[in-house]
Amino acid sequence: MTYSNLYHTKAYNKALWIPMLFAFFTLTYCDSKKGDDDFTRKVVDKNPSMVPLSPGESMSKIQMPPGYHLELVASEPMVQEPVAVSWDGNGRMYVVEMNTYMMDAIGTGQFKPTSRIKLLEDTNGDGKMDKYSIFADSLVLPRAILPVADGLIVDVTNDYNFWLFKDTNGDGKADEKKIVFNNPEIDLRNLEHQNGGLLWNMDNWIYPTRDNLRYKYHNGKLIADTMINNMTGQWGITADDYGRLFFSEAGPGLPAVQIQQMPAYGALNFKDQYTEDFSVPWPIIGNLDAQGGKNALRPEDNTLNHLTAVCGQSIFRGDRLPADMLGDYFVAEPVGRIIKRGRIVNTKGKLQIQNVYKEKEWLASADPNFRPLNTYTGPDGCFYIVDMYHGIIQESEWSGPGTYLGGIIKDKQLYKNRGMGRIYRVVNDDFSPDKQRPAMLAETSEQLVKHLEHPNGWWRDNAQMLLVLRNDKSVIPVLKEIALGKRATLKKNPTAITSIHALWTLDGMSAIDKAVLFKALDDNEPEIRKAAIRISEMFKNDSQVTDKISSMINDSSPDVRVQLALTLRSNNSKKAQATVTQLLNSNKDNELMHYSYDSFNKTKESIAFEEARIKNISPAERNLVLKGATIYKQLCATCHGPDGKGRAIGGGDLPAPPLAGSSRLQGEDRILPIEILMHGLQGPIDGKTYKDMMPSMAGQSNEWIAAVLSYVRNSGDLSNKASVITPEEVEKVRGYIKLAAGGATLQQLEITRHYRALQRNFDE
Ligand code: HEC
Repeated sequence: MTYSNLYHTKAYNKALWIPMLFAFFTLTYCDSKKGDDDFTRKVVDKNPSMVPLSPGESMSKIQMPPGYHLELVASEPMVQEPVAVSWDGNGRMYVVEMNTYMMDAIGTGQFKPTSRIKLLEDTNGDGKMDKYSIFADSLVLPRAILPVADGLIVDVTNDYNFWLFKDTNGDGKADEKKIVFNNPEIDLRNLEHQNGGLLWNMDNWIYPTRDNLRYKYHNGKLIADTMINNMTGQWGITADDYGRLFFSEAGPGLPAVQIQQMPAYGALNFKDQYTEDFSVPWPIIGNLDAQGGKNALRPEDNTLNHLTAVCGQSIFRGDRLPADMLGDYFVAEPVGRIIKRGRIVNTKGKLQIQNVYKEKEWLASADPNFRPLNTYTGPDGCFYIVDMYHGIIQESEWSGPGTYLGGIIKDKQLYKNRGMGRIYRVVNDDFSPDKQRPAMLAETSEQLVKHLEHPNGWWRDNAQMLLVLRNDKSVIPVLKEIALGKRATLKKNPTAITSIHALWTLDGMSAIDKAVLFKALDDNEPEIRKAAIRISEMFKNDSQVTDKISSMINDSSPDVRVQLALTLRSNNSKKAQATVTQLLNSNKDNELMHYSYDSFNKTKESIAFEEARIKNISPAERNLVLKGATIYKQLCATCHGPDGKGRAIGGGDLPAPPLAGSSRLQGEDRILPIEILMHGLQGPIDGKTYKDMMPSMAGQSNEWIAAVLSYVRNSGDLSNKASVITPEEVEKVRGYIKLAAGGATLQQLEITRHYRALQRNFDE
């Protein structure tokens, strides 16, 4: 890659805020560092020993480009089975541990409440953690955390609640916990398919990775907002300097999904949102433990031939590694034991992630127990890696008796390798990690405002979040000055990024007024105009604001025009709709704008169609169907597909049969579908055997089962149209049913159906 090309592609992220001097440095830097790609992939270890290595030995098995090295931040016994970390405003590190994850091939004891969250501290500033406490214990597989000023928001496996854990006496242990978002339903999905992250984003919304809800934290509660589509991310969530979100999906091996627009505007994916070579792994280890067995491996050396477990993506936003890493996209692959690096290129607002290294990786390990699950930019400006260091990585759904993975786990005794875990930071020989440790929790609001200009995104994000949580109105005038690009208390004139943080901080404090908004809409920096357009959505019904943003129709930046179309299309005023039409006409070559608009309309049409179709049923029945739709999308769609046609994962076999058009589901017999959901079902079905099984839903309430069945029998999306099922009918079945262990077969159900018919004749 020539450096002019490199510079051009990076301009999207950097040129706006890094002073000219820095840009010059980047150019010369790239020139002298042409050798970053100048290394050879290590010889592959085709059949490595699974015996665990010490952290030092394990680090020596890791290959990185010249200049980079790892430093150990924490390891067992201080951390065990770490899966995610997060720093509080004082730079203390919370570590999420899944201590019961896959202790053997069938997941014995997996849901025992014995997992922990640790709190680690580096008291002497050498980068290595030297003090720890068990912040919370007795948890069921904790998944995602978010430190907010007054505690830690925690999400655990199998439920939809969010908790707030608090340490009120400062001993490093939580002594109070309360529910901050209450949804007592059980999350029945495989634990690889439940929420895998929690991010306070620049727009002040807190995003998980799945489902269609995002949250605001207000007065000690999470307030949910429903979006029109689901987010489909799995493990990990990250955002760039402007709060653009990036998700990944492990199962189908998609290293970046839904990256083109914010989730509130709808789910959107392009085939070419990353280059083909970005989805090809180049491990330095032969790994037999891949789902799919030999088909997933290159015959010559057993290396993984396609991505199967991508997770823990992050955009590097720190200031203590080479400048050309800034804004790059990193994604881990714990089955390939690699971390891939991609460069984000923006063409007319549409992003593409391009592979950086040819047939080799930014990081690759020959230690088979190395399991990178999450990556981050740390407070010290370096890159962090969470390595679960665990023998088994896939969940038991894929490794039960008789499966390929189950066999490998047994042969190689992978179940023995547990109770360990490492956290590393990546350092470059030419840079030293930032020694200034954050102490934001006790700082004044004025001091926090100054961090909005910190060169490390971690500091900016945390300062913004703390300012919003504190809601100290005294800094509003200063924030307004910074938002509008004036010298305030800052060291330099505010850069675009600092001004955008100030704008969003004001937004979070409900302190945006039209004067500030209009000036921001006139700013020279496209990213500031874009943020201001998003913020203007709160003035949706104000015709003056609609007129103002409509007047930006010929904005010089395609990014801004795309945002205009997104914002205006949900505004039903005549003016807004006319502007959208004009925008579409004058941007015929903008693929993103058109594709986004079409898919938004399709979603809207299908919602309207659904509403019209159920208009004639009673309100109680309608509620049932609507509730069922949510359940379907959250649970059943993982196997049966969003449209009930079965879902092809990575183009392979369907995990479950289509529900659309199923005669058993929408036949006259209203009992059979209830029985199927109660018992669960063993295949084969219609002559086909599926690798997944239909799980029993008997643990759910009568209303829950009635709702989801009413939806699947009734949904226009699924082209079914049968009558609703009531909770009373479910109760009746519950009254007599004796659950078949491991699910009933269709044949068994046919027999009971026959007896039911006889019984009915007899009753009549
Ligand atoms: C883990 C994957 C999975 C999930 C989740 C799942 N199913 Fe199934 N389902 C299956 C499989 C597989 C079959 C086929 C039977 C078999 O092979 O075990 C099936 C069969 C069915 C059938 C019978 C279809 C027919 O034509 O007879 C119905 C009805 C059904 N599922 C409904 C649901 C509903 C409703 C949900 C959500 C509450 C759901 N399923 C969730 C995997 C799943």
